[in-house]
Amino acid sequence: MISIIWRNKDKWKKLFPVFDKHPELVYLDNAASTQKPKAVIDWVSDFLKNDYANIHRGLYALSEKSEELYYQSKCKLAELINCKPSEIIYSHNSTYCINLLAQALVNSWKLWKWDKILLWIREHHSNILPWQTLSKIFWFKIEFIKETEDFQIDWKDFDKKFNKKVKIVSLSHVSNVTWQIMEIEKIREKIWDKVFFMVDGSQSVPHMPVDIEQIQCDALIMTGHKMMAQTWLWMLYLKYHWVKELDPLILWWWTVKDVSIDNFSLQNSVDKREAWTPNIVGAVSLLKALETIEKIWWMEKIREHENKLIKILCEWFSKRKEQINLVWSLNPDNRIWTFSFTVNVEKNFNKIWDVFAKHNICIRTWWHCAYPLHKSLNIWWSARVSTYLYNTEKDIEKFFEVLDEIIG
Ligand SMILES: Cc1ncc(COP(=O)(O)O)c(C=O)c1O
Repeated sequence: MISIIWRNKDKWKKLFPVFDKHPELVYLDNAASTQKPKAVIDWVSDFLKNDYANIHRGLYALSEKSEELYYQSKCKLAELINCKPSEIIYSHNSTYCINLLAQALVNSWKLWKWDKILLWIREHHSNILPWQTLSKIFWFKIEFIKETEDFQIDWKDFDKKFNKKVKIVSLSHVSNVTWQIMEIEKIREKIWDKVFFMVDGSQSVPHMPVDIEQIQCDALIMTGHKMMAQTWLWMLYLKYHWVKELDPLILWWWTVKDVSIDNFSLQNSVDKREAWTPNIVGAVSLLKALETIEKIWWMEKIREHENKLIKILCEWFSKRKEQINLVWSLNPDNRIWTFSFTVNVEKNFNKIWDVFAKHNICIRTWWHCAYPLHKSLNIWWSARVSTYLYNTEKDIEKFFEVLDEIIG
């Protein structure tokens, strides 16, 4: 059954009910969020009908079942990125996660007055704003690593800025605008063990194999809704050393071992980070999403399909070089299957967005929450087309038909 689906690629879409309801839909805004397969929708519905209760507190069958599924979901994710389930923390989304982690680092005195944090100019606002807000209160310095003209890391600039004052290095594994895969391993080699190395995997984990052992980061941020799970589920890998070391930001009964009227003591496990009734339903949806990926494609297969679509997109874009500027390059290597571009004809982003929308093609235009990158490139907006498992060559064909209409 599985290999039949794999061979007959148009059938993949059938696994996603949204395409039954909207057969003409060409959904190319997957970098923002992906559609959900029937397996996830049905499973969540069954779970809510049959097995749901709050977790961590009930000694009865429903609560135990919910708790087991919640834990299984962490085990599956740990298997995917090669870490221990005890190093996985769940909360809301990437943005929330980076805010929380930034606050926890400051609260635990890991980043303080005159210290430095290194970021990249291409970062999503989620990985800029939390640091900027805190730096105004705690007076640490933020420096941005420059990029070369072809969007590579400017290593000379890195070597100049990386010194003993640097306590945190934080960057996205894959930029949500250029779609380049960053040289994480090389950065890891260059920074000292004591530096907290934080990787935003929001755009890499849904698309490619990511292995914690290999990238050796201290924290990896992921988001469930970009990989077929429900919204409002953030996943954080936090190295066990830091699970013990960092103070949690939000306290609640599950985070503490003991409370008296004048003090409290904290748990040592990931539990001290989940200070809330967690998103149990979201975790269960992630479990099913990961099982779907495992059963049908697993990451290597996704990457295989992706590489094929990347080549097709590169070919189509290369035929329109005069009218289109890609934000990054036509190089099919070292990237994921999303392309951002500007058009050389007089058009504003609303107009482009609109034309695609009228043809039932969902793309994204504007800044993609990356103002600093756009400003550094002297462009005011870009359009972004991002594919996923269910996209086909036909979708790409339709997209270019409409694009040709726009660029004339
Ligand atoms: C690289 C990157 N980081 C963070 C985020 C924020 O993710 P969320 O919307 O789940 O907070 C995004 C969203 O597009 C992203 O692309």
